[in-house]
Amino acid sequence: MERLVTPAAMRAWADARRAEGARIGLVPTMGYLHDGHVSLVRVAKEAGSEAVAASIFVNPTQFGPGEDFEKYPRDEARDLAMLDAAGVDAVYLPGVKDMYPEGHQTFVDVTGVSRGLCGAARPGHFRGVATVVAKLFLASKPHVAVFGEKDYQQLAVIRAMNRDLDFGVEIVGAPIVREEDGLAKSSRNVYLKGEDRVAARCLSRGLFRARELFGKGERDAGILAGVAGAAIDGEPRALLEYAEGRNPVTLAPLAGQVDAVTILVAAKVGPARLIDNITLGK
Ligand code: PAF
Repeated sequence: MERLVTPAAMRAWADARRAEGARIGLVPTMGYLHDGHVSLVRVAKEAGSEAVAASIFVNPTQFGPGEDFEKYPRDEARDLAMLDAAGVDAVYLPGVKDMYPEGHQTFVDVTGVSRGLCGAARPGHFRGVATVVAKLFLASKPHVAVFGEKDYQQLAVIRAMNRDLDFGVEIVGAPIVREEDGLAKSSRNVYLKGEDRVAARCLSRGLFRARELFGKGERDAGILAGVAGAAIDGEPRALLEYAEGRNPVTLAPLAGQVDAVTILVAAKVGPARLIDNITLGK
């Protein structure tokens, strides 16, 4: 597995792979990898990638003041071993100064789909995400890029950016990977200790209840989202941020009878801010 640190080195690797006629797959991450990330590598290969690059970069521009940028978990040695074992060909590990040198002043702002949900609680977050993903695309020149569906709004933001800026990358969403008790895998789960870890199940519990109701014929988006929110509200250690039913493709708010809906939830449990979602009726 090659290690690349600068944008120039990443570009040179991508140019060489393209010259060989290889289809490049990109798996962007912020490190502290878990099985969910490994599944992204697998999905990249299933999508026909012949040369897979993964990036590890804790991107400061997507963290707001007072958020967990400094204490975001990091374990580079373990991450590299996991990517190597997963069959990644190159890992891109730029430093903050490589990505944002003195004088950096260009940002990508996807309007519309960045608003509401996590965009409301984390102003500037999706601007940071879109900017860094644009930079990763330009350096690694992927044919296909894979992102987890756990960050559902992020995926919609990246799809919009890719379309609007004519990147021409095939964006693939990979299904959420869950712990045995339903909790969606996340690097931030490391913040959950003891009773908070148990309480964190309320997010997936509510979503699974909504799925059960949908299975029994309930089609009211407000009722389905309400059920998911109530499971979080009923957990004393959790603080509900939002529980909303949205159009699975456009993320437009939905009310009343629906054929398909994505229910998105966010809550604080102890020190961790957690998100989760489920799509019903796709
Ligand atoms: O989902 C993530 O890990 C990050 O938001 C991403 C897409 C790697 C951009 O920093």
